[in-house]
Amino acid sequence: MAISIPVTRTTSPKAKYSDERSLGFGNVFTDHMFIANHDPERGWHDARIVPYGPLAIDPASPVLHYAAEIFEGMKAYRHPNDEIGLFRPEQNAARMNRSAERMCLPPIDVELQLAAIEALVDLERDWVPRSEGTSLYLRPTLIGDGSRLGVSTAQRHIYFIICSPSGMYYPNGIKPVRIHIEDQYVRTVRGGTGMAKTGGNYAASLLASTLAGKHGYDQVLWLDGRENRYIEEVGAMNTMFVIDGVLVTPALTGGILEGITRMSVLELAKGFGIPVEERLIPVEELFSAYEAGALTEAFGTGTAAIISPIGELNYKEKSIELGTEIGPVARRIYDALTGIQSGKLPDTRGWTRIVPRLATQ
Ligand code: PLP
Ligand code: COI
Repeated sequence: MAISIPVTRTTSPKAKYSDERSLGFGNVFTDHMFIANHDPERGWHDARIVPYGPLAIDPASPVLHYAAEIFEGMKAYRHPNDEIGLFRPEQNAARMNRSAERMCLPPIDVELQLAAIEALVDLERDWVPRSEGTSLYLRPTLIGDGSRLGVSTAQRHIYFIICSPSGMYYPNGIKPVRIHIEDQYVRTVRGGTGMAKTGGNYAASLLASTLAGKHGYDQVLWLDGRENRYIEEVGAMNTMFVIDGVLVTPALTGGILEGITRMSVLELAKGFGIPVEERLIPVEELFSAYEAGALTEAFGTGTAAIISPIGELNYKEKSIELGTEIGPVARRIYDALTGIQSGKLPDTRGWTRIVPRLATQ
């Protein structure tokens, strides 16, 4: 059955940006947003699209006090024929519900999630930018609302989606970034909330990333929270290394996010005949492989970051230098992935979902 999503249009549309290349990431928001509410009696209800604007929540809401929150990050791309394509949105919807389960938030029917995303992107299709490297970034979010301060599951919930026309996450595009491997603070632990896309994980990362920033690093690479030894992920991306021609990435131990870009890159690499390993990677292995000349590339993968080459890794007093240009494996994967996402290369894997033109237009 089709899900009906009433639309209240804005009466004061915003002026559009004048230069797509200076959008940056997550700075500009479109005219409308999607909202639905949840309570135990009615479940998810009142799905609607309304003008973008502030939410009314109770000051005692669990989201404000106990971080009852999860989110997703996904993108809509303008294809050369002007159709708008979503990249593997079913995967984001499934992960939203895995995060919901971990954080004791109510799951949202995948059909409702996809219908909400399609209806909103359809309405905002003029906001999807055209330039190379740009897209409409979508931020589906689920928060716990209510009016009691005891630590427990929330009484009510709100699911909303906002859209942000965006460029590259890192201002330097695909120029390699400098990464500090953190040896003191940890972000998540196995058994903790690392596999969930929940705001508290990001809050926990800020101190170390601020300190790293002061020393000239772009991001922090986290080690596992138990032994402080195994490579995990960067704040907004999974990590991959080319060691002896093998693409090696940390296994999904529960401490890291199950990245959809990660999953897609592994599939593309296998398709290219590049051997792939998902396993524990002790930090000292990176240094011994580097000293032996076997570590040739490192890069991050993520929706916002796409493929982000790592030019330098610093750990305690030591550093690994991997050059100032993207390496050949990362380049090949970047071209294939962005080609499919932007609709410039054929999508033989069924990863793209074209946004239908609905009656709301
Ligand atoms: N790890 C973290 C902590 C992230 O925030 C992200 C971004 O979403 C990723 C990994 C990459 O995940 P995905 O490729 O699904 O965007
Ligand atoms: C994404 O890539 O979608 C993310 O969620 C990264 C974000 C935290 C900036």
